Amino acid sequence: MADKDGLKVPKDYHIAEPFANMGDFHVKGANSLDWGMKKHLSRIFNPKTGHTVMFAFDHGYFMGSTSGLERLDLVIPPLLPYVDVLMATRGALRTCVPASNTCGVALRVTSGSSMLDDDLSHEVVAVDIEDAIRMNADCMAVQTFVGADGQLSSLENLSRVINAGLKYSIPTLGVVAVGKQMERTDRFFKLATRILAELGCQIVKTYYCENFEEVAAACPVPLVIAGGKKLPEKDALNLAYKVMQGGAAGVDMGRNIFQSTHPVAMAQAVHKIVHEGFTDKEAFEFFEELSH
Ligand code: 5RP
Repeated sequence: MADKDGLKVPKDYHIAEPFANMGDFHVKGANSLDWGMKKHLSRIFNPKTGHTVMFAFDHGYFMGSTSGLERLDLVIPPLLPYVDVLMATRGALRTCVPASNTCGVALRVTSGSSMLDDDLSHEVVAVDIEDAIRMNADCMAVQTFVGADGQLSSLENLSRVINAGLKYSIPTLGVVAVGKQMERTDRFFKLATRILAELGCQIVKTYYCENFEEVAAACPVPLVIAGGKKLPEKDALNLAYKVMQGGAAGVDMGRNIFQSTHPVAMAQAVHKIVHEGFTDKEAFEFFEELSH
């Protein structure tokens, strides 16, 4: 197969060159999409900055009651003014989040695994497109397992959701899962993010890695970066800063916000980096001021 064996031709990601097909729309890769798609994407990516703070609290779909999310009804509402998008299950949204909020919605539409499994790499599409429309979802989130046992079925799930989304103008967010046995290298993330974009995702969620700017440059749709396991606030803000410097369009942070000692202050500090150009140092000072 081309490139797999034999002569290796060096790659050039043209890091210094901005994405060439922006047209007059603020979201990478979306210039040729229709009005409805653009409207949803504009609820996710702020038209002024082109960026987003997504807040992920969908952990319960396979982890049950996670530390920090024991009471969604108490934890989520105070954060709503400070984040752009809620990444959540329909169960969490319908039961615990007031519909009067103005955040975008990234609806988790796949499920089928639990923390009790050894292998978390098999899921199904569990939410019909009609329910995504009823929820007024701005995108549908699909877990994918590139390079893992569940690759074929997860990419099939992804394609089904993308096809349904294109029919009703709802973007699809492809989530790159990293299993225990999978490498967290730029080689892996370049492969996985690019596959998801080429299959038709309008947004890809992935992780930070070395040479992240090459991963971002090679992906023709916006990347939003997961926070991952809880870090000290200073380090989590450093991560947010590095991903934005590296070409991400935003963060999709969960535990580093809701497990923070001061979740509301942390959400605001992340917002400062993503939308207002704060450095991580400035954002940490801001966090400390708010939390004392
Ligand atoms: C699982 C997800 C979760 O929503 C996401 O990982 C949660 O965010 P964080 O890692 O920042 O807690 O997409 O694959």
